[in-house]
Amino acid sequence: MARTLIRGGLVVTAAEETHADVLVDGERVAAIAAPDVAEAWVPGADRVIDATGMYVIPGGVDAHTHMEMPFGGTVASDTFETGTRAAAFGGTTTIVDFAIQQVGGTLRAGLDAWHAKAEGNCAVDYAFHMILADVNDAVLKEMDQLVGEGVTSFKMFMAYPGVLYSDDGRILRAMQQAADNGALPMMHAENGIAIDVLIEQALAAGRTDPRVHGEVRKALLEAEATHRAIQLARVAGSPLYVVHVSAAEAVAELTAARDLGLNVFGETCPQYLFLSTDDLARPGFEGAKYVCSTPLRPVEHQAALWRGLRSDDLSVVSTDHCPFCFAGQKDLGRDDFSKIPNGLPGVENRMDLLHQAVVDGHISRRRWIELACATPARMFGLHPRKGTIAPGADADLVVYDPAAQQTVSAATHHMNVDYSAYEGRQLTGRARTVLSRGTVVVDDGQYTGRAGHGAYLKRDTCQYLV
Ligand code: URP
Ligand code: ZN
Ligand code: ZN
Repeated sequence: MARTLIRGGLVVTAAEETHADVLVDGERVAAIAAPDVAEAWVPGADRVIDATGMYVIPGGVDAHTHMEMPFGGTVASDTFETGTRAAAFGGTTTIVDFAIQQVGGTLRAGLDAWHAKAEGNCAVDYAFHMILADVNDAVLKEMDQLVGEGVTSFKMFMAYPGVLYSDDGRILRAMQQAADNGALPMMHAENGIAIDVLIEQALAAGRTDPRVHGEVRKALLEAEATHRAIQLARVAGSPLYVVHVSAAEAVAELTAARDLGLNVFGETCPQYLFLSTDDLARPGFEGAKYVCSTPLRPVEHQAALWRGLRSDDLSVVSTDHCPFCFAGQKDLGRDDFSKIPNGLPGVENRMDLLHQAVVDGHISRRRWIELACATPARMFGLHPRKGTIAPGADADLVVYDPAAQQTVSAATHHMNVDYSAYEGRQLTGRARTVLSRGTVVVDDGQYTGRAGHGAYLKRDTCQYLV
């Protein structure tokens, strides 16, 4: 088994920052030692990576991606191959994607379909959540089986009536099942029934621009659904993870629940921290590039999100990576904002945007790693294999250059999408060398990995429940 020694870096985990060397044996971290002690490992190493002036951080864990997701009559433009390669370039070495149950179909069929898309194609390791689109007695039983197979979290939608939507009764029943089998219910919390009324009224009034997408998907309707999801989880006795939180009022609901000591957790995404309704209101049809749900909010909401990330009322930053090309996909809604496929690209940008948040003073360096690596790994039962640097952990490691300057652009990114939501943004910091289970997959801007290196991860249950 090949031995790799990473020398001279600052090892940053959620818990510690230490000047130390990291020894990788095969696919795993074998040891971490002070540089003078690690000197003795040099002769036995097959490869020595110089990390002088660099951080050595755990590979990122992106717990919310949608590769090849069918949505709004089209399909998200990143395949598992292109999307996981882009993830690797950005220092993310694990994704948790969403398998989807078809209405009228079984969970098994949905999961099998997503395995077929991913298997043999991924550059980095991957796992699955399951989307429940049609809760019934058989599905509740299937949930137990899936938990046994390492699919331990189930997303439901209070949004998108007639598509992925579940009513409160179905949500409650699935939450009760989760309370029994240890799974973590995940919620897209927006009142979709009320939003559909507002969409209809806006279109009838001739308001068809992308900016209206943000206006009808009101912050209060995110907060109301968040509150309702929390109360349903309390009644069921289950935990709850609220995905892609964007509204200050929704953060307040999470804060109130967490102040009661409930097993309620919140996730936000870089787009809500760095973009706003100003982007949705860009002239012409440019705003379509920024259509996602929950929607981008007025810039004032960002302070509450940053505060939530510092106070742990928001515990995870994932991307909700769901890219659609501007040409041929976003423009399906040129005359009707409700037909613009929902979703933004970002799997390649998350680690760097959050490092920029460190540079800008929003979060500490260790909190960066906690939000992007350690907590998503613990939340979704992947720790200690993923999310940290420790003897026995998978050698998913990033040699990160904290001083590198980059300009984000679709011209240079690796995601299979024709625009960048962060076009032209200057960022400080970039992944220089990326290892996935001991294999260098990206080095100095070159891809050295291969489709099929990434392996499926069976997950344990959430490690935060009290
Ligand atoms: O706009 C989004 N978020 N698209 C992906 C599907 C979802 O709701 O997560
Ligand atoms: Zn969602
Ligand atoms: Zn999503």
